[in-house]
Amino acid sequence: MVQENNATELLRWYVESGIDEALEEQPVNRFKAPESVTPKPTTLPKAPPPSTEGVSDAAAAPPVLTAQPTAPPPTPPTPRPPTELVSRDEATKSARTAAAAADSLEALRDAMAAFEGCPLKQTAKSMVFGDGTADAKLMFVGEAPGAQEDRQGLPFVGPAGQLLDKMLAAISLQRSDVYITNILPWRPPGNRTPTDSEIAACMPFIERHIELVAPRILILVGGTSAKTLLGTTQGIMRTRGKWLSYTREGLDNPIPVRAILHPAYLLRSPAQKRETWIDLLEIKQRLEEG
Ligand code: URA
Repeated sequence: MVQENNATELLRWYVESGIDEALEEQPVNRFKAPESVTPKPTTLPKAPPPSTEGVSDAAAAPPVLTAQPTAPPPTPPTPRPPTELVSRDEATKSARTAAAAADSLEALRDAMAAFEGCPLKQTAKSMVFGDGTADAKLMFVGEAPGAQEDRQGLPFVGPAGQLLDKMLAAISLQRSDVYITNILPWRPPGNRTPTDSEIAACMPFIERHIELVAPRILILVGGTSAKTLLGTTQGIMRTRGKWLSYTREGLDNPIPVRAILHPAYLLRSPAQKRETWIDLLEIKQRLEEG
């Protein structure tokens, strides 16, 4: 009983520490083509002539050849289906076609669910599309789902999401008043930072998502979201604290943008909450100005 409790505690500790993936002990190169093993003819090594030195005639008689046990021929590995490698450009192109054809949020969700160009889909438990009101004035775009979001299929429901809810409450808003989504709809394993290829593959979807929601103000939550949607290499400390603009061909007008510090960062660095509070007040003021 004591051991069982210890094991449960250990598992809980793993999950809380972010260790929630069962990985293999050895790295596997999944891009490597399966080796074709051609069984080689088995040749017996030639035995050296027996030494007769200091041995009687009888003992020096030629050895009787007995059948050597031969190893069974190696079984060729079962060929794995070839990994379909989709280039970054091909993935982005197919996402662009699918996203452009989506004329509603439901159609966009279906198009993303059918998309096979982002490998994160293979490791994620669910696709996290979005949450909130489709005709919201404020749209929040984060980076990618974390463990809890992946489990529940909703954005910002883990510890960072709970802080985001409090940030909204600070400007008299609740989740249902706004629209929340992410750059990527699938969780990167172990919450690692998404790669440029993963972002490029999914980019047309978030662009279409923004066009369909067409918010009055776009809030980019954290550095990855700000860099991606503003097309800048500047860090969040430089992009936050000012009004910027998001422009795309499919939009009637540019959308005013604010980049804010990510709530996950604020949980680690609470001293920065003050800056974010100021950002939120400015956002509230602009909303009220109509
Ligand atoms: N962090 C994000 O950027 N998005 C989520 O949905 C959760 C955590």
